[in-house]
Amino acid sequence: MGPLRAAALVTLVRGGGRLRYRHPRAGLHIPVRRCSAPPAPAIAAKEPFAVELKAGQKYGWCACGHSRRQPFCDGAHKKAAPGISPLRFVAEEDKMVWLCGCKQTRTPPYCDGTHKTEAVQGARLPPKP
Ligand code: FES
Repeated sequence: MGPLRAAALVTLVRGGGRLRYRHPRAGLHIPVRRCSAPPAPAIAAKEPFAVELKAGQKYGWCACGHSRRQPFCDGAHKKAAPGISPLRFVAEEDKMVWLCGCKQTRTPPYCDGTHKTEAVQGARLPPKP
């Protein structure tokens, strides 16, 4: 069965805020991902945050840039950037690290120096609440 035939057997439905495909005979609901790219993260700060990590402790690094508890997640992504999730990690040792504040790093959650670029330094920061 080719892709066109398969597409004719399913119906796109909305339910619970998510897109799903429903098979008309089997009644299956298969969650699908949207094809559009997730929203770009907001630049929360133009420099990294110095953080003292504690071994074994869980952290949730804000990846969307909307948290008021930078550099950590406060759940703001659920409304402000639904396509972006926080990066959760467990510290392996007691250590001082630089966590990215611009949300443009290629080595999340750690700063890689991307904040020094003109794209970040010239950007307007969102207003403080
Ligand atoms: S603060 Fe984002 S790369 Fe340095």
